[in-house]
Amino acid sequence: MAPVREGEYMIQTNGQSSARLNFQHFWVEECLGYLLHPNIPVSDNAKVADIATGTGIWPIAYSRRVPSTVQVDGFDITDDMFPPADWLPSNVSLRTLDILKPIPEELKGQYDVVCIRYFGVLIKNNKPDFVLRNLVDMLKPGGYIQWVEADIYNQRVVESARYTLSSPTTLEQHLQGWQKYLDSSELRYDWLKTLPDICKSIGMSEANLYIPEILPAYRFTASTLVLGAWEEMTYKCLDERPDEFLGTGSELREKIAGFRKEVDQGAGLDLDYYVTVARKWA
Ligand SMILES: C[S@@+](CC[C@H](N)C(=O)[O-])C[C@H]1O[C@@H](n2cnc3c(N)ncnc32)[C@H](O)[C@@H]1O
Repeated sequence: MAPVREGEYMIQTNGQSSARLNFQHFWVEECLGYLLHPNIPVSDNAKVADIATGTGIWPIAYSRRVPSTVQVDGFDITDDMFPPADWLPSNVSLRTLDILKPIPEELKGQYDVVCIRYFGVLIKNNKPDFVLRNLVDMLKPGGYIQWVEADIYNQRVVESARYTLSSPTTLEQHLQGWQKYLDSSELRYDWLKTLPDICKSIGMSEANLYIPEILPAYRFTASTLVLGAWEEMTYKCLDERPDEFLGTGSELREKIAGFRKEVDQGAGLDLDYYVTVARKWA
C-alpha cells in the first residue's frame, strides 16, 4: 500500500498546525503580492469560496479587503482549525465539505470565484481533474477559479555564503528520500505546470499560469514552515506507519533537529509557487 493513502491528509489539524498555516498564509501573500489575482474581477455583491480553507485565514483576510457586501465562504473537510463562528467577520462563513466527493446540489453554480490553496498533498497520479470539476461545479457561469500551490516535490537547498556546516547538507540528502516517499505515494507535482491546459480541455477560458519569483530573504521562513509540516507528518503518519525512505517518526524528528541547525547556520529551502487562474464558460 502507498505510504500516503488515497484521500489521506498527511499533516495534523491541531493548534500547532493552525499557527503554522496562518504564518504560511502571510508568507504566501508576501510572495504572491495578492490574495486574489488582480485579473479576477469581483463585484460588490460577489460570492467567493475558499476550498480546503484550513483555519479560514484566507476568507477572513480577504473579507477585510473587499466591501462587506461580498460574501466569503470557507470549506474544509474538518472544522478542527476553524475559529469560533461568533468571532468571524459578518460576511464570512466556515463549514465542512469534502471536495473529493461530488458537490451537494445546493452549492452548485453559487460562486463568482472559487479558490483553493495547498491541496497538492491530496492530488494523486498527477490528476487534479475530479477536484477541478468540483470547483467548476460550484461556479456560476463566467466565474473564475484560482488554484495556488507550492511545489513541495522539487524543493532545493541553497547555502548562503555564511554556511559552514557539512556540504551537501543533511537536508539535501533528506530531500532524495522525501521525493521517493512522494513517488511511492503517487504524489507528483508535474500537474502544476499543466493545470491551465487541463482547464482549457474542459472548456474553460482565460486559463493562465503565474509563477512568482523566489524571495531569497524569505528562505528561512520557507524552511521553517516546511520543517514544521514534516514534523507534523511524523506524528500523523510515521509514528503509526514507519516508511522505508523516511524511517520512523522519532528518527525523522531527530533528523529535523539537525536540519534546523543547518538552517540556523545559513542553509535554506527554495520552492516554487504556481498560481492558475481560469474562467468558466458563460
Ligand atoms: C495544507 S492545508 C491548507 C489550508 C489552507 N488552504 C491554507 O492555504 O492555509 C490543507 C487543508 O485541506 C484540508 N482537507 C484535506 N482533505 C480534504 C478534503 N477531502 N476536502 C476538503 N478539505 C480537505 C485539510 O483539513 C487542511 O485544512
